[in-house]
Amino acid sequence: MTTKRTRNTLWLLILISAFAINAEIADDKPPKFQVLRAHATDVPQLKALRDIHERTQHDLDFWQTPSKVGHRADIMVDEDRMEWLDSVLKNSNISYDVIIEDVGKLILEKEHGPPRFSNLLFSKRMHNEGGNRARYGFGEYHSYQTICDWMKDIERKYPDKAKVFTMGTTSEGRPIQGIKIGSQVWRNDKRIFWIDGGIHAREWAAVHTALWFIDRLIADYNDDSLVRAAVDRLNFYILPVANPDGYEYSRSDVSPMIRLWRKNRAGVVCKKDRWFRDRCCGGVDLNRNYDWHFGETGSSTDKCSEIYQGSSAFSESETRSMRDFLTSSELNGKIDAFITLHTYSQMWIHPYSHARKSVPADVAELQRVGRAAVAALENTYGTKYKFGTGSDILYPSAGGSDDWAKGTLRIKYVYLLELRPGEDVWDGFILDQHQLIPTAKETWNGIKVVIRAVTEQAGSRSSSPRVLPAFVRRPNGSIVRTNVRRPGSRQFIRRPGSFAQQRSGQFRNRNSHRSQVANVAQRPGPPQQASRSGTCADRSSWCASWLNANSRVCQISQIYMRQDCARTCGFCQ
Ligand code: ARG
Ligand code: ZN
Repeated sequence: MTTKRTRNTLWLLILISAFAINAEIADDKPPKFQVLRAHATDVPQLKALRDIHERTQHDLDFWQTPSKVGHRADIMVDEDRMEWLDSVLKNSNISYDVIIEDVGKLILEKEHGPPRFSNLLFSKRMHNEGGNRARYGFGEYHSYQTICDWMKDIERKYPDKAKVFTMGTTSEGRPIQGIKIGSQVWRNDKRIFWIDGGIHAREWAAVHTALWFIDRLIADYNDDSLVRAAVDRLNFYILPVANPDGYEYSRSDVSPMIRLWRKNRAGVVCKKDRWFRDRCCGGVDLNRNYDWHFGETGSSTDKCSEIYQGSSAFSESETRSMRDFLTSSELNGKIDAFITLHTYSQMWIHPYSHARKSVPADVAELQRVGRAAVAALENTYGTKYKFGTGSDILYPSAGGSDDWAKGTLRIKYVYLLELRPGEDVWDGFILDQHQLIPTAKETWNGIKVVIRAVTEQAGSRSSSPRVLPAFVRRPNGSIVRTNVRRPGSRQFIRRPGSFAQQRSGQFRNRNSHRSQVANVAQRPGPPQQASRSGTCADRSSWCASWLNANSRVCQISQIYMRQDCARTCGFCQ
């Protein structure tokens, strides 16, 4: 058995080195990219596919990774590596089909067709944009600049309802911008609904869907009573492109290596290959870079990997800006829903996704609202969705924004959506532009179920934040602890010394003792004890939130506190 495995590994190594030689003797035409679907029908095949994934991260792009027997891998490979991959798969007895013959051709066909006159001429009637005086070309993809200009245009035309926000700047210098929508938009005392899209660069349909939501909130205010109630009672914060550098890079060329870029663009080093194509390593998978079981599962320390987690949690400006914004006094403790949009697979995912069979204590409510949302989505056009945690229905992966939003920020309704197409459809990330509007419409019907739940709950209780900022900023910039707490407030209020316990109480093994964990998560703690330092010069709301969370935070989250907080406020040294 061991000898057989050693022999197989040896084979794999020989084939991998043989590939390098093979590439040298290929002809000079730029190779085309294909996508293979390889089936894992038993455990050895599953292991072999995982092995190939790990060893070939620089050369192959796994669009889908199999997480159990019966699943398959969708692997993008260029023509000159095809022969080699074929032998590797055959050697492990893995059967495969070629599901995309030429990815470059598919990109041109699906995304660069002739201009759609219907969009321009009948936009208003067909796409129901009637109520929004700021026009956007839905049904097609546009640049980040066009997206930001459109949001600015909405702000100009609806100054009482919309305001563009800038969370930070990317490593390439782009502003990270989104839009706040709510009646009397200057008010910060309402409950909040957060939506982001495009954290993965190539998932363009997610960006388009987030933009559609912005449009609906503005356009339907007068016609849809739910939208009106929601916009009146809540503040929506929508960040349509959470990874602007990656998005723009993926738009910069039709070549599959560029169009299918996933990560951000920080620290990318590229070399030209002999066809003058860029071969790049670097960039961080932003959805592995959040401080939730960082680096534990489904992520990589290899800079060339598609799932490179970054040097530490929140090492990236995109994730750091989101963290600082969500924990700023404007938003902290007020967010009731966090929706993050991805493609593809048609899945409605709830936390937690870092490990199998781990769910938050309030999973029943997440399931109730989530399942109703899926039903509304499915009822629109019959599109079928799977529902569950990412780790159970997709694969475990730590450091995701959704898990962090639930586990650390304790936001009530947290969902990650994998939009069209389905897992079985072969064109994956290259969604035909004709499907963009139907995708957006059905997803909106699902999201409206979550909006209804949040709006009704916001209507039935005080709209003020559950927690007042425990730190106030002095005019000189220093932050002073106030220890002010509203009666009944829960978020970020912990029993002294028990943060680790309570953090683990947010997720539990389904076999563990349910009531005990649920109690821990729901019991409001006693008033927070004063911090060791009392005053803190750190200007980041991030630091303030953590200090507020628990006085033992330095021990519990050593690395991050040392990096993010200690230098300025001296708390964790
Ligand atoms: N396709 C998503 C990703 O790979 C799934 C994430 C599920 N959630 C999570 N926290 N891992 O990022
Ligand atoms: Zn994604």
